[in-house]
Amino acid sequence: MENNRAQWGSKLGFILAAAGSAVGLGNIWKFPGKAFEGGGGAFLLMYLLIVPLIGMPCMMSELAIGRAAQSNVVDSFGRLGHKGYAWTGWVGWAVAFIITCYYSHVGGWVLRYTVSYAMESGKVYADPLGYFYNMLGYDAAAGSTFIPWPVLIFATLFMAVCCFIIIKGVEGGIERFNKIGMPALFVILVVLLIRAATLPGAAPGLKYMLSIDASKVTPQTFLIALSQAFYSLSLGMAIMITYGSYLPKTENIARNTFMVCTMDTLVAVIAGFMVIPAVFATLGPEGVGKGGGFAFVSLAGVFQQMPGGAFFGFLFYLLLLFAALTSTISLIEGIVAFLIERKGWKRTPTTIAVGLIMFLIGCLYTCSQAALPIKGIWFDFKNGITYPAFCDAMEFLTDRIMIPVCALGCCLFAGWSWTPENVCKEIEQGGIRFGLVKLYSFLIKFVAPAAIIVILAVSLFTGTTLS
Ligand code: PHE
Repeated sequence: MENNRAQWGSKLGFILAAAGSAVGLGNIWKFPGKAFEGGGGAFLLMYLLIVPLIGMPCMMSELAIGRAAQSNVVDSFGRLGHKGYAWTGWVGWAVAFIITCYYSHVGGWVLRYTVSYAMESGKVYADPLGYFYNMLGYDAAAGSTFIPWPVLIFATLFMAVCCFIIIKGVEGGIERFNKIGMPALFVILVVLLIRAATLPGAAPGLKYMLSIDASKVTPQTFLIALSQAFYSLSLGMAIMITYGSYLPKTENIARNTFMVCTMDTLVAVIAGFMVIPAVFATLGPEGVGKGGGFAFVSLAGVFQQMPGGAFFGFLFYLLLLFAALTSTISLIEGIVAFLIERKGWKRTPTTIAVGLIMFLIGCLYTCSQAALPIKGIWFDFKNGITYPAFCDAMEFLTDRIMIPVCALGCCLFAGWSWTPENVCKEIEQGGIRFGLVKLYSFLIKFVAPAAIIVILAVSLFTGTTLS
């Protein structure tokens, strides 16, 4: 069994693939908005503490679990002698499934905008909000709605590319694509950073990102930074366990974790230093927002006012496109790897079938944005039962509950059941010495689970989404 399992072809291949998973839409459009709200420098500082103290121990544990078990996300726990934790794997698997449904559609929107900036930036500028609504099937001028076929076709294309790469396999597809996609992403990022930083009027934005406003260092900001870190590092969702299982025993998990987390954080921070100053320079601080509306609508104003805006706009969406592709690929791999192993199915038909199902569910996500009044159902202790739009309910389910639950399961497993000794033994395979055993044990046993429990409690009791 062990010998049949796919493996990464090279160390760099793994690092780029794992970083490709981590570096996603979260880094580029979620991080800057949150950093702004959290006071710029204050948020940055907290984030930079959270990643090594909580993110890294969690990622290291997930990679070690995968590599030790040499199995998929659900069966790994049983292989290591704790069948009772299979639920953690199921939750992780389901998170990956649900996130792929919508992530791949947002990938389609990004593809749409990449083409828009290349071909018709004038139309985007003329009415940024109208253009965005129109993409999603709502004609604001006429007040009418329609099925947004064009964007559904872009989403089909996006999903098809991801599935094609998955079908090519771990080394021939995922690794190879990331070896091109990730360096490209870094180059584009640096070009955009230079463009943003040299805009007249960018200085106040840069200053904002560097100054620490103590009044912004609140528990709320801390929790937002914390859940952003989980999402951004792709923790709590089947991925790092699956990717770890393809890692050769000679690889140093601790060092790889460090590199992947550093790259992910670097991209997020650079994105912050690019987006915030650019918005300050063009729209002013009021222009900063969060989420899809910000990434698609407000940024149009930024590109419109920037010299060479259409070109840089195109580059920006190309950057998002690479980020979204490499992340979606990792999600689908986690889902497919499980089905192939558990059910004995073949890679190609399995990928096509799940790709199709997730795409179809994703259509409800895109259509429920504006075109169709599809509702989901939600419950929290503050607001009771509510009926948010289907698209929001999907994100609530993963961000507020499932990701923290799966991450908690992994921490409890690594910290208390399988024990940190075994995690460290796995890390030290192949003659590697891991010098931080005590610190790791403390963090994974107490600090990380406590932090996750607080996230869960706040989400459930106050009904707020922290991620
Ligand atoms: N980590 C990715 C990001 O920052 C998001 C992601 C979530 C990727 C789930 C894979 C799986 O956007």
